[in-house]
Amino acid sequence: MRVTGKIAEIRQWTAEARAAGKGIGLVPTMGALHVGHASLIDAARRRCGFVVVSLFVNPTQFGPGEDFDNYPRPFERDLALCEQHGVDVVFAPSAAEMYPRENLSWVTVSGITEHLCGRSRPNHFRGVTTVCTKLFNIVGCDVAFFGQKDAQQCVVIRRMVADLNMPLEILVCPTVREADGLAVSSRNQYLSAQQRKDAPIIYEALKKGREMIEAGETDPARVRERIEAVMRRVPALQIEYISLVDPETLEDVKRIGRAVLIAVAARLGPARLIDNIVVDSGR
Ligand code: PAJ
Repeated sequence: MRVTGKIAEIRQWTAEARAAGKGIGLVPTMGALHVGHASLIDAARRRCGFVVVSLFVNPTQFGPGEDFDNYPRPFERDLALCEQHGVDVVFAPSAAEMYPRENLSWVTVSGITEHLCGRSRPNHFRGVTTVCTKLFNIVGCDVAFFGQKDAQQCVVIRRMVADLNMPLEILVCPTVREADGLAVSSRNQYLSAQQRKDAPIIYEALKKGREMIEAGETDPARVRERIEAVMRRVPALQIEYISLVDPETLEDVKRIGRAVLIAVAARLGPARLIDNIVVDSGR
């Protein structure tokens, strides 16, 4: 496995792999890798002849007062996980390598970035779409792998790639969960022992919502109320949103039809947790 922080070097290595006839897969991450990231790497390994993982805590997607400074950066552990999962190249640039001058050029996706997490994190998706565009341009990947855990991010990236005719495929992999249902996240390590015990209530609430819809409920307000009631069992949980939206437009649904994305965000002590499920009632 090779490791570099230099754009010129990664470009050369992926060009060589391409010349050797290999398909190039990219797994963009902010490091602090866990089994969720590993599942994306494994998917890339199955699909592509050459697998690149990027490790970059992207400053432009963090707002003022967010956890950019505290975000975990266990670099050696991350390299070990990549090595174990058969990664060909790790790209771990510095902020100066990625943003050598004041950044004046941004990729913005309108509409769908204003719902859900966009409400409380106004410039977040602009940072994500800009850094992903840069990574796609640097690596020249054929396929990029993302996790359903960040459902809105997947929808936004897919839309950007389609709207701007970017020459790559986006593949979305299922959310990996702990045994008790909590979606695995780098931010779970901010939780105290008690908060960690309480956190699985989020997925329990989502499953309750799914059960109602599968049993025939079509009124999103009733499902939302029930999910909220379950989440309120943990008084320390500060709910940011519970939304039932169209999985593609991310607009609130008025009536639950065939497929609905139930997305929630909540604060638990120092951590902001998000989770979601897509319910396809088959109606
Ligand atoms: P990060 O939070 O490190 O996540 C990297 C990728 O891993 C994302 O596609 C995310 O959805 C996926 N992922 C995280 N937890 C997961 C889980 N439990 N199951 C499955 N996949 C999971 O998302 C980002 O970084 C950044 O915004 C990035 C795209 C790298 C741009 O900076």
